[in-house]
Amino acid sequence: MTTEAICRLPTPETPEEWTELRRRGWAAREALGDRAVILGHHYQKDEVIEFADVTGDSFLLARRGAEASAELIVFLGVYFMAESADILAQDHQAVVLPDLGAGCHLAECADIYTVRDAWTQMTEAVPGKTVIPITYMNSDAALKAFVGEHGGLVCTSSNAERAFRWAFEHGDAVFFFPDEHLGRNTGERLGIPPDEPLVWDAMKADLGGVDAAALADARSILWKGFCNVHTAFNPFQIARARKEHPGIRVIVHPECPRPVVAAADEDGSTEYIIQRCQELPAGATIAIGTDWNLVNRLRQEHADKTIFCLNEHICPCVTMNRIDLPTLVGTLEALADGDVPNVVKVDEETTTWAKVALDRMLALA
Ligand code: 13P
Ligand code: SF4
Repeated sequence: MTTEAICRLPTPETPEEWTELRRRGWAAREALGDRAVILGHHYQKDEVIEFADVTGDSFLLARRGAEASAELIVFLGVYFMAESADILAQDHQAVVLPDLGAGCHLAECADIYTVRDAWTQMTEAVPGKTVIPITYMNSDAALKAFVGEHGGLVCTSSNAERAFRWAFEHGDAVFFFPDEHLGRNTGERLGIPPDEPLVWDAMKADLGGVDAAALADARSILWKGFCNVHTAFNPFQIARARKEHPGIRVIVHPECPRPVVAAADEDGSTEYIIQRCQELPAGATIAIGTDWNLVNRLRQEHADKTIFCLNEHICPCVTMNRIDLPTLVGTLEALADGDVPNVVKVDEETTTWAKVALDRMLALA
């Protein structure tokens, strides 16, 4: 049976009740056995990430989801990740997102209607130009289908540079949505100066506020969208960290605005950030610009290094945080009882084209 349900159990009030809840979670997990695989994004809370069979950034999880054979794929992450897992899944598999309200602010910055309208205006304004659309993984399935149908592909923060290169091999310009900042940071790596990309503002009726003559010459057109977590970092935080900790290493996620990435020592996906914390020597001091749950976990795992978040006061990604232990245990118990709640299912037509776009990404060298 397939149902949409709020599986959340009551929040425990005492340490003993938390222990009991955790025990119930593991009992349900064991009862499910090989029927289920649990994929967990690095931003998930500690209390649920311990149940993940695989942890990763959005690229790694897409790849591991596509390889999985279990009939149930339980996704500890946000909606666009679960949609991507469903697009890549086989017919006998169901993707379960314990809280269907776990969305993504960045993904919501673009929708199929406004992107389609922008595309029509843009291609009519520069008829001879081949524009390749790229959508960030953090986007609706409909946008992935759109780029698949229009000769483009999906990218994540770990392969955006390769995706842009692919696009320039196949066309004259890139139209990237919905993250302006990742688009600008990626362009910079390919020699496109940060002030060169055009920014398409869907709130502006006429050509997204872009100059038609500039559009003819543009190599990079970026959607005006942003992540509310990563835009909470700024260069002043980095300057303060450097002053207080001489010799510090600053690592940020490429969803941060360009001035932040420029002021950092390095930038990369969540998987990259984890790898760098492993590689840096004992005694290193590392400031990180990304979601707090991940930074806090790194701090605990590397007690021989000083690790902190560039902005300790920002909340972790609130949508990632919607999946907590009471929600996960309620879901696992429902699954173990034979129910299949909170299934993420992308329709067949969308899946066909979105899979083309995801497969192009997975095939990137
Ligand atoms: P990663 O692909 O680096 O894990 O990033 C996903 C994300 O949502 C960052 O905000
Ligand atoms: Fe979306 Fe930002 Fe949360 Fe990542 S951190 S899931 S981009 S809102």
